[in-house]
Amino acid sequence: QSGSTVSGTPAAGSDTILLGQVGALTGGQATFGISTRNGIELALKEANAAGGVNGKKLAIRVYDNQSKPEEAAQAATRLITQDKVVLILGDVASSNSLAMAEKAQAAGVPMITPSSTNTTVTQKGDFIFRVCFIDPFQGFVMAKFAREDLKLGKVAVLQDNKSAYSIDLSDVFTRKFTEMGGKVATTESYSQGDTDYRAQLTAIKKTQPDGIYVPGYYSEVGVIARQAREVGLKVPLMGGDGWDSEKLFELGGSAISGSYFSNHYSPDNPDPRVQKFIADYKAAYGGVPDALAALGYDAARVAVEALKRAKDLSGPAVRDAIAQTKDFPGVAGTVTLDDNRNAVKSAVVLKVGDGKTQYVTTISP
Ligand code: PHE
Repeated sequence: QSGSTVSGTPAAGSDTILLGQVGALTGGQATFGISTRNGIELALKEANAAGGVNGKKLAIRVYDNQSKPEEAAQAATRLITQDKVVLILGDVASSNSLAMAEKAQAAGVPMITPSSTNTTVTQKGDFIFRVCFIDPFQGFVMAKFAREDLKLGKVAVLQDNKSAYSIDLSDVFTRKFTEMGGKVATTESYSQGDTDYRAQLTAIKKTQPDGIYVPGYYSEVGVIARQAREVGLKVPLMGGDGWDSEKLFELGGSAISGSYFSNHYSPDNPDPRVQKFIADYKAAYGGVPDALAALGYDAARVAVEALKRAKDLSGPAVRDAIAQTKDFPGVAGTVTLDDNRNAVKSAVVLKVGDGKTQYVTTISP
């Protein structure tokens, strides 16, 4: 598929610095890539309006991975060998980022994932960074919320066996929830793209859980919620950041209402910096930015700041500059990168309402 240079950023040339993005613009996770692209574009437009990087303008080449790891790997290779980008932003879904990280690390091209939370992504090597928290923390957050706030005793887990993100989050949640004195009655699984979850939900119902943890992506979770209500499961569902999409409300309808998920950011945050970002985003794209947009914006700004500080635009120099990111004021929290190239940040718990989410609480590491 052909790449496009994002509108609002100049065409690549000698007076521009070219960045790359790989994202899901089509397929089951399409809102992830589109929101991320919007957030990145907004950040680059602002950076260009403020003079760019040492007199050079920033441009970005974007490739669609169709929500598939193989496509993500190919697109990363194209950015590296054909477009010769100075750094790569993306992806969202951890399985895609894992495939890309392999290529970026081998080529010595820095990659910053805005939002992939699976621990192993940044373990691919010293050129791979992220501006979000990791799943061992995110799993702890929902386990703690389920035990201490919802006061649940016995829960069931329903995981996506095709997603590195889902499998890991399911493990962490189970471990933490058990450590906190709760019980996981059963763990059932599905494969991304499935449409019938009744067999698993019926098995879950037999265990009479007080809640169900579904660490998947919105496209499946919305349908799961409806079918859960159909088989007579009335208990709350809980999940992670993968639920974050405006499509969740459409797919899940009233069935998903009253459920909870952990996330990186809440649009209800009164911080003026956050509210300005929301206003600018709305003016440009016409909707409330989700966490993907916020993290895309933060990742691009972290990249721009690093490019300004880098001693030249070579891979190692840019990598060293990114690694030094400290106390960076993002709209989805302050970014300080640790020795493992991960950001350590707090998480929010959101409650799903009618067509929008409601902020419930913040949980810190
Ligand atoms: N954390 C998810 C993953 O690693 C991606 C995601 C982030 C989805 C934020 C939605 C919001 O796969």
